[in-house]
Amino acid sequence: MALKVRPLAPAIGAEIVDFDLATDLDDDSFAQIESVFNDRGLLLFRKQRLSEQQHIDVSRRFGPLQDHVLKPYLIPGYPQILRITNLLDKDGQPMGIGDAGLFWHSDTSYRRDPCRCSLLYAIEVPARDGERSYGDTLFASLTEAYDALDEGTRRQIDGLSAEHSYGKHYARMQAAGSKRPDLTDEQKREVPKVMHPVARPHPITRRKALYVNDGYTTHIQGMAPAESDALLERLVAQTIRPEFSYRHRWNEGDLLIWDNSSTQHLAIADYALPQRRLMHRTTVLAA
Ligand code: OGA
Ligand code: MN
Repeated sequence: MALKVRPLAPAIGAEIVDFDLATDLDDDSFAQIESVFNDRGLLLFRKQRLSEQQHIDVSRRFGPLQDHVLKPYLIPGYPQILRITNLLDKDGQPMGIGDAGLFWHSDTSYRRDPCRCSLLYAIEVPARDGERSYGDTLFASLTEAYDALDEGTRRQIDGLSAEHSYGKHYARMQAAGSKRPDLTDEQKREVPKVMHPVARPHPITRRKALYVNDGYTTHIQGMAPAESDALLERLVAQTIRPEFSYRHRWNEGDLLIWDNSSTQHLAIADYALPQRRLMHRTTVLAA
């Protein structure tokens, strides 16, 4: 059966319409979904009703799952699911990451083998207020950003690598007042700094992506700091141009899957308790 597919924005994203991931995911439909996914970088499934196990099972179709480095925020019994939420437990402690994704980033670009994709499932979403929605997530296509570079810039970045560091992001969040505890030595060892090509071929499609992001990229290898900062700033600006992006206004039951090699994303933190936001996320490793 042919899937009903609707683009979310010109450069990125597709909605798979009227599809129940809990019951409809046979091999034929998965093959179609995967092909739209590789092409569009971001998929939306609305009105899902997934148990933790079903969320994990759907995620596993895309590849093996990763346990996140922030162990306290994994769901008991389901270490493959990371809780992203502003909710507090009865002792007033965070029940999950309350400040995920506040800088543009591709998930786990700080790993040597960055993950393939992430699946974020909305369980509670702050209520809308007329046209106004809260806790939106922005997405942008890094392959479109690369394709739109001028010839000179493409030549300039050809062969360059950039460093990505989880510590950069973490320190910045702490400096901004986040209550995150210091990373332990063991956590630090789990996420050493890594290098990736600035023009990075997608591991599956081989299409080049402009693979730098504000969240984790620290500098261009072998460049003087001022020169590296200026180039990175210019490249990051290219990756977040509105024509390559899409803003998702969440509804409960939405499941979004994004490709971390061809896209990046940004969370908009414009809500606070008693507005509640609760999401479950899985991370799929590169094959
Ligand atoms: C993530 C993330 C953004 C959000 O799950 O990787 O960045 O809007 N989340 O919750
Ligand atoms: Mn993220």
